[in-house]
Amino acid sequence: LSIGILFGGRSSEHEASLASAASVLKHLKQDRFDLVPIGITQTGQWVTQTTPYELQHRDCESQALNQPEQLQHTTIVDMAPHYASVMPHPLSSVTPKIDVIFPLLHGTYGEDGKLQGLLEMLGIPYVGCGVLGGAISMDKEKTKQILQATGLPVVDYKSYRRAELERNPERILDAIEDHFDYPCFVKPANGGSSIGVSKVRSREELRQAAFLAASYDQKILVEKAINCREVECAVLGNEDLLASVVGEVLIRDECDFYDYHAKYIEPSTKVIPAEIPDDLALEVQQQSIKAFRALELSSLARFDFFLEKETKNIYLNEVNTLPSFTEDCMYPKLCEASGLAYPDLLERLIELAVE
Ligand code: DAL
Ligand code: MG
Repeated sequence: LSIGILFGGRSSEHEASLASAASVLKHLKQDRFDLVPIGITQTGQWVTQTTPYELQHRDCESQALNQPEQLQHTTIVDMAPHYASVMPHPLSSVTPKIDVIFPLLHGTYGEDGKLQGLLEMLGIPYVGCGVLGGAISMDKEKTKQILQATGLPVVDYKSYRRAELERNPERILDAIEDHFDYPCFVKPANGGSSIGVSKVRSREELRQAAFLAASYDQKILVEKAINCREVECAVLGNEDLLASVVGEVLIRDECDFYDYHAKYIEPSTKVIPAEIPDDLALEVQQQSIKAFRALELSSLARFDFFLEKETKNIYLNEVNTLPSFTEDCMYPKLCEASGLAYPDLLERLIELAVE
């Protein structure tokens, strides 16, 4: 089988994607699969015959494009001529050689159903969930609405639109302060890896955080902050689902929360299995499976929970349908602890894509 490995991409999680892809390229058994690496630059150009390393350098050389404002304004308008002149459609030059696409793309334009729609149109099987599951799970507000409708507990949240914030910031800040105590979290509704996320303790911090989150997305979310541990569960399968052992992320005291730094720069310690009572671990697994079905997922997803320290209540906080995927990341580690080593997990995902 020939496997197209897609990496990079237009989202704020471009860098995380390069790391995930480098690991997969290293561990996917080369005697069993022909690997076709395909990079997507931060402005959306598709580049074949490249590696995550080369793409990173190309991105650095091209321009300082990692400013969110610049990215938002350069994307679609700038890209149209590229698509028109470089490729009739992004996969046309490689399609005949590709049996399955393995998208190692995190965030928008990779994890949110858009790529999946393109692949459906082209008739190419792919790893990961489909259009609907990806689109819902990318949007933190829609995810929470569905989880609530399914009877799964989530922490208190509200969403606000960028346009309202820009039109009348004081009114929006008043509304947030009326509803939430400090500290609370402010996030872009569609994002990942904690990029654009802040924990705020005052109106001034709230103001800055709201505009920061709104620079990434037209909708922002405010969430109650609870005193909690972070536990995670991996689910694998299409119809017959496997929920992994539960893992915990130990957040260092000096970190305010599980932010980008604690995720990628100085990765937090993972405890697998988490040191929690068996009945709580079972509850996390059952809620993960329930959420997987409610969100119309398939293939894989990682579910991130808050375990409230005082009450021992659990709240499902995040769903990642293409979770970070180096061999040291939580999803592969949870699968490994549940009996599926990294190279076998990669093969299983390819099997699930074509079954
Ligand atoms: N969104 C990143 C990739 C994760 O949660 O793993
Ligand atoms: Mg996430």
